[in-house]
Amino acid sequence: MNGSQILPDTELRLHLAREGFVPWLKDELARVFPGSQHLVRSPPWIESRLTPAEAAQVPSVAFSAQCLPNAVPVSAASVSAWANAAFQWLLPQLDDGTTLRPWRLHVLSAGDTQDCVPTGRLRLIDQALRQVVKERRRRLWKLLVADPLAPWNDAAGDGTAGSGGESLVQLALATPETGWLSLSHGEERKKLRRCLSRFPAGIIEIANDPSAPSQAHAKLREVQWHLNREILPGETCVDLGGSPGGWSHVALRQGASVVAIDRSPLREDLMSDPKLTFLKQDAFAFAPDTPVDWLLCDVIAFPQRTLELLERWLDHGWCRWFCVTIKFRGADDYPLLETFKAMLSARGSEYSLRQLHSNRNEVTAFGRASPP
Ligand SMILES: C[S@@+](CC[C@H](N)C(=O)[O-])C[C@H]1O[C@@H](n2cnc3c(N)ncnc32)[C@H](O)[C@@H]1O
Repeated sequence: MNGSQILPDTELRLHLAREGFVPWLKDELARVFPGSQHLVRSPPWIESRLTPAEAAQVPSVAFSAQCLPNAVPVSAASVSAWANAAFQWLLPQLDDGTTLRPWRLHVLSAGDTQDCVPTGRLRLIDQALRQVVKERRRRLWKLLVADPLAPWNDAAGDGTAGSGGESLVQLALATPETGWLSLSHGEERKKLRRCLSRFPAGIIEIANDPSAPSQAHAKLREVQWHLNREILPGETCVDLGGSPGGWSHVALRQGASVVAIDRSPLREDLMSDPKLTFLKQDAFAFAPDTPVDWLLCDVIAFPQRTLELLERWLDHGWCRWFCVTIKFRGADDYPLLETFKAMLSARGSEYSLRQLHSNRNEVTAFGRASPP
C-alpha cells in the first residue's frame, strides 16, 4: 500500500463519470458535498475527500455510474502481487474468525483510456485473486457471489434487494501498477444505493432487440435491472410520450396492459394489441381514472415540466412505481437535479436518479412511490 495523502478523519471516495461527463459529475459532487474536496486526478474517476458529516449522508449522485467508498490506494508490480495485496487487505474484513460474509468482486479499469490498463490484465488479476482466496480461505471463496445476478421480483426496492446484503469488493486500476481497493458491506451499500451500483462499473449492457420499435426499450430494461423489480404480468402502465412504442413493447411483452399517450400513434402492431389503449392527447394534461402500477414517461420536455409532472403523479398517488426520463437542453439544466432529489425525498419515495448506460444527455428518475 502506498501512503498517498489522506487527510485525517476524511473518507476517500471515488465516483466514476460517463464519457464526457467528468466536469458535470464534479459540479454535482460539489453541490452534494459542498464542504469536501473533489479532485480529478485519474479521469473519468473523481476523488472526493469527504468530511465525516458528509460521508455519513445518504447521497444521490445522478452522474455517478459507480463509486468506490472508503477507497485505499494500492500499488503492486505484478498480477500475483495485486492478488496477494488484495487478499491480505480483504481477508480480515470479510472473515474475521466469527463473522463470515458473502461477497462479490469487481475488478475495474480506473484509467482514462482502454490502453491504460488492458482488459487482459484486469482479467488475470481477477482470476489470480479468486485463486488465492480459493487456496488460502476456501470457505470465503465459497461465499463469492456470481455476477451479474438476476434476482427478479424479490425487490425491497432499496437498492440492496436480491443482493443478500453481501459485501462488494472493488479493485480499480488507474495504471497497471496503481489503483484503489474498496469494500462496502450491506449497510454501507444501502446508504450509498443512489451512487453505488451492484453492476461492475455500473454498466448494464442491454442486448439489441430487433423486434422493438425504437432503441429506447433499452432504458426501461436497464431500469428494471437497477430496481431489481420488473413490470409483472397483469400490472397496469401509463406510457406518456410512448410513440413509437419501445417502452410499451417491453411492458406488453412482460404481460402488462398499457395506456399509451402521445401526439403520434405507436407502431401499427402495438396499436392493434388488445392490451394497449392509445390516447392521442397531451401527456401533461392526462390524469388516470384509477391509480396504476407504473408511470412510464419519456416525453421530450423541459426538465421543469417533467419535474412538475412527476410531482403531480406522486402527490395524487397515481402510481406505485415510476420511470421518468429527464431530458436536458444543456449543462445549465443540471443543477435542477437537486430540485428533483429534494422533491423525491420530501415525498418519501424510494428513488434513484441515474444517468443510465443507455441515456444520452438525460438522467432517469425511477423508484417506488411512497405508500399512500
Ligand atoms: C423520446 S420519444 C419516446 C420514445 C418512447 N419512449 C419509445 O420507447 O419508443 C418522445 C415522445 O414524446 C412525445 N411527446 C412530446 N411532447 C408530448 C406531449 N406534450 N404529449 C404527448 N406526447 C408528447 C413525442 O411525440 C415523442 O413521441
